[in-house]
Amino acid sequence: MLRSQPDIVAIQEVDSVTGRSGGTYVLGDLAEATGMHAYFAPAIDYDGGKYGIGLLTREEPLSVKRVSLPGREEARALLIAEFPGYVAACTHLSLTPEDALASVEIIRQAVTQSGKPAVVCGDLNSFPESDVIKSLERDFTQVCDNKPTFPAPSPQEKIDYIFVSSGSGAASCGYKVIDAPVESDHRPIIAEITLPAPADDIIYHQPYLQNMSQDGAVTVMYQTRPLCTSSVEYGTDTLNTISARQFVAGQEAVHDIEHRVRLTGLTPGQRYFYRVRAREITENKAYHKSFGNESVTPWHTFTVPSPSQKDFTAAIVNDMHCFPATITAMAEVALKHNPDFVVFNGDCMAEPATRMQAVHDIHLMADAFGLADRPGIFIRGNHEIRNAYSSGQPSLVESANGLTYGAFNWGDTRFVTLDCGEDKPDTTWVYYGLNDFSRLRQEQTDFLRSELSSKDFKKAGRRVLIHHIPVWGNTDSYRPCTDIWAPLLAKAPFDVNLTGHTHEYNRIDPTPGQNPFPVIVGGGYKLDGATVMILRRRGNEMTLTVLGADGRTIDTISL
Ligand SMILES: [Fe+2]
Repeated sequence: MLRSQPDIVAIQEVDSVTGRSGGTYVLGDLAEATGMHAYFAPAIDYDGGKYGIGLLTREEPLSVKRVSLPGREEARALLIAEFPGYVAACTHLSLTPEDALASVEIIRQAVTQSGKPAVVCGDLNSFPESDVIKSLERDFTQVCDNKPTFPAPSPQEKIDYIFVSSGSGAASCGYKVIDAPVESDHRPIIAEITLPAPADDIIYHQPYLQNMSQDGAVTVMYQTRPLCTSSVEYGTDTLNTISARQFVAGQEAVHDIEHRVRLTGLTPGQRYFYRVRAREITENKAYHKSFGNESVTPWHTFTVPSPSQKDFTAAIVNDMHCFPATITAMAEVALKHNPDFVVFNGDCMAEPATRMQAVHDIHLMADAFGLADRPGIFIRGNHEIRNAYSSGQPSLVESANGLTYGAFNWGDTRFVTLDCGEDKPDTTWVYYGLNDFSRLRQEQTDFLRSELSSKDFKKAGRRVLIHHIPVWGNTDSYRPCTDIWAPLLAKAPFDVNLTGHTHEYNRIDPTPGQNPFPVIVGGGYKLDGATVMILRRRGNEMTLTVLGADGRTIDTISL
């Protein structure tokens, strides 16, 4: 027991203060030795004490109940412990087949009363082909096969079982008969059982919108805690909806907790409602699948941008470094302006050590800035690309080209985003030779060259360049972005360049022989230094307002 650390131990033929057990409360002694709670249910009086069954539980149950069972040669009992998510039962059935069969009906009634998944364990004194087991199998599924457990020294018979209630979402993920020839007269069975997740613990927070395109498409991203089958219901109202799912080569993607459902064929300029539905897949075997609870999010809305609609409001933030107070304050300032979309311009998340930390961090942003109702554009900073899970993190976001840099249109404004990589050379020892950002920057030089000569860029009404580390105004001694991109950008007709990284607000007006457009360096990450940029387009006017985390105006620039 100490080795396997079970949540529940079902024990049969256990003594309480009998003469043969030296007057000890055997179950109590086991509880003390294992640090578990003990619940004893006597079946008969015996040798100055009692003899019966018991449950040891790791967690304290909500309630414990003893039910008498028939047994003409010896009275029998059923012991039931109810927990928030399931019911565990222990029994020892009569040797008389009629009494054992009658007991099954009592067990069925007693353990299903709560409506929770049930685990029924015990010495059923019945063989697998018996009517007793066949009757149980109508509503319960055995989590073990028929490997013999009795007698312990050399097992020949199968009379000990662990069942779970069928269709409840409880499922086995492995079991074994323990090689214990002398410890008892039966060999113990240990099974690992998964229980269905509660409905309110299936979808991780709310979905967030990614890769919104004015061709009429958006990706709804969300994570689930267990593996799920899921869909996105959407429509221009909440009554006439269609359902979209994530298919990969003809199959719904149900192997991962990360989900992305692309909604296509949307009408530019139209407002839509959507919500996510996810049902846990508790068992996903080749020839057997079972499903648990379903969770449905509240309705959210989004409006698809349109090439003919020039007006927009965007919020651009940077360097929040996962500081909850900064995030909350900045989100409050940004949401006052009801932005159509939010750009996270690097170092907004911390260095993710695990996937769940990355999920947690992205939701710090997504939840605070309401990305269920407006898309977010995540640009990497030098901190997001550090730590064990940094290379996995891009799977939590989506861009039009599947890369960490690119370009998109909102109305007739063209946005170009770049990924500056690390702020120290790839050969710096702390990277242990795992980075090649020189190559990534070089790749972007080619991208930038083709973007600057593209039709989309040339015909745009306004052009905005956004990246984390400033090309001009960078205070680092290592400045590869300046070295390779400044010559290209020196002639590029951007209206403004939004950056961050230095944690100090700065505006560099167009300077001959240097930046031909205004460069704005956002501040961070402390409350008194953080900035929220509100970029507003109204007809042919574009303005940038820089606000502090307390909402005060720091700067206003007409572009
Ligand atoms: Fe940075």
